[in-house]
Amino acid sequence: MGEKPVRRIMSRKRAAVLISGRGSNLQALLEAKQDAYEIVLVISNNPDAPGLAIAGAAGVEALAIDHKPFGKDREAFERAMDAALSARKVDLIALAGFMRVLTPFFVRGWEGRLVNIHPSLLPKYPGTQTHQRALEAGDSEHGCTVHLVVEEVDAGAILGQARMPILPGDTPEALAARLLPIEHELYPRCLAALAQSSE
Ligand code: GRF
Repeated sequence: MGEKPVRRIMSRKRAAVLISGRGSNLQALLEAKQDAYEIVLVISNNPDAPGLAIAGAAGVEALAIDHKPFGKDREAFERAMDAALSARKVDLIALAGFMRVLTPFFVRGWEGRLVNIHPSLLPKYPGTQTHQRALEAGDSEHGCTVHLVVEEVDAGAILGQARMPILPGDTPEALAARLLPIEHELYPRCLAALAQSSE
């Protein structure tokens, strides 16, 4: 009689997605139906973000936590988010077009469990206007990066990258449009890998 295979019980990680706008990466993370994570909460700092409706349509709890009433007290805003995340026992956080720079309070509190997708091949072009900067530099390729979030903007450990060629006549808009579906394929894969590695 052979031994029964030992089945490892893997619990799905509870993920939250933070957004500020359109939410196409949120949609991709929801649609990917990964075994490694489930999205249990979406938070937007912008109450008018179209992405909130994407969460609602998927039956995922969506919270608008507007940063504006907190004024210059960025940490107070983050404490409100942190309380919501902790109350839902969130394991991992994915930033997806979240347009607030996070303070050390939040970044340290979620260290190793907080990821972002950035539309460049980091360490090239941290910050904004990445498509234009790649074109101005005469680069032959462009891409996106999923990375851990650390205090320095767009500087954390790289979890995954995807590349594409830059073509003659490309504009920043054309690059952004061609890169987006590549982001949508990369992000769920990287979030799943992180979820699995943090068993
Ligand atoms: C994406 O290009 C992402 O790389 C960047 O912000 C954009 C968000 O788009 N961080 P969406 O809201 O996910 O559609």
